[in-house]
Amino acid sequence: MININVRQDFPVLSKNIYLDSACMSLKPRQVISKINEYYNEYPACAGRSSHKLSNKVNEEIYKTREITAKFFNTKKENVVFTRNTTEGINIIANSFKGKKILITDKEHNSNLLPWQRKCSLKILNSNNDNTFNIEGLNSNIKDVDLVAVNHVSNLDGVINPIKEIIKIAHENNALVSIDAAQSAGHHEINFKKLDIDFLSCSGHKMLGPTGTGLLISNKLNEIEPLNIGGGTVIDSNYNDYRYEEIPLRFEAGLQDYAGIIGLGEAINYLKKIGFDKIEKNELELNNILTEELSNEVELIGPEDYNLRPSIFSFNIKEFSSHDVAQIISSSRNICIRSGAHCVHSWFNKHKLEGSARASLYLYNDKNDINTFIEEIKKLIK
Ligand code: ALA
Repeated sequence: MININVRQDFPVLSKNIYLDSACMSLKPRQVISKINEYYNEYPACAGRSSHKLSNKVNEEIYKTREITAKFFNTKKENVVFTRNTTEGINIIANSFKGKKILITDKEHNSNLLPWQRKCSLKILNSNNDNTFNIEGLNSNIKDVDLVAVNHVSNLDGVINPIKEIIKIAHENNALVSIDAAQSAGHHEINFKKLDIDFLSCSGHKMLGPTGTGLLISNKLNEIEPLNIGGGTVIDSNYNDYRYEEIPLRFEAGLQDYAGIIGLGEAINYLKKIGFDKIEKNELELNNILTEELSNEVELIGPEDYNLRPSIFSFNIKEFSSHDVAQIISSSRNICIRSGAHCVHSWFNKHKLEGSARASLYLYNDKNDINTFIEEIKKLIK
């Protein structure tokens, strides 16, 4: 059994069993110290003033953009700091008004609503086991301008074959926007090699500060900023303005500098551990969950945990998902998510109220999983 041995960096784990990282990951003490460093030592603006403190913020933000670009194998000019995945997707959707967008039937509201409001939508049904329907993509891709798809589903953890999806889309002259909220920080994402057009993710699901995110694209010159104002222009007069270079024109107003710098530290932390260990840990723990529970609960998603390593989503007969979450929170301080996980469309289609969802990350261990299994088995009895 792999032991990543990081629990001492996450003090909240001494009193809680945290299985809700798909909603919000914990932050290691190294990230929290980096945030405090900003507030204690150089709590100033970037890109505006020329004093010492401001220069230090500039330097730290520049470094973070470089660290981030390297992590995703792209150029630093392609990296926009946002507040979350949702903001990234809204920025992209705003530039695709009236275009034909293909999404799956399992998208989070953040990868449904922005397109629904501005574009014409084609919904691709998943296979019966909730995996990605490649055949369906092949037969529906004609005339599509952009495919917007999650990399890992927040509903059931299914990993979508984005390499194949991008290849098919590009062969048919469609662009691709990846919602990487659930995959960044769990799996390596090589932006250049995968030939991604747009990628959005959240810092707070990858050990970073809450309210931080990334939009990565090599097509920033081809889309419009959503918010404009301070920091986005080189010059303006009463009739017109001239945009800043990319990516700055996408970062309007004063930014969450502490958060951005903290996100850089989270990426350093992830790099030190490495994706091999992170992936192996999730697989091993989900293997135990699936072996012990899949016959006792109504599992959402495929039986094979290899297809959905970070998530175990389920229902127990005669309990609402919220009851399950509340009972195990009261009895053993176990934190899981319940409800529709912002994928109302899928639950409505399947006439389900929601599901209970345990999600895994690098700081979870066998003890967490065993206690969770014990409590779920008690409920079933
Ligand atoms: N997208 C987040 C989740 O699935 C909020 O919990």
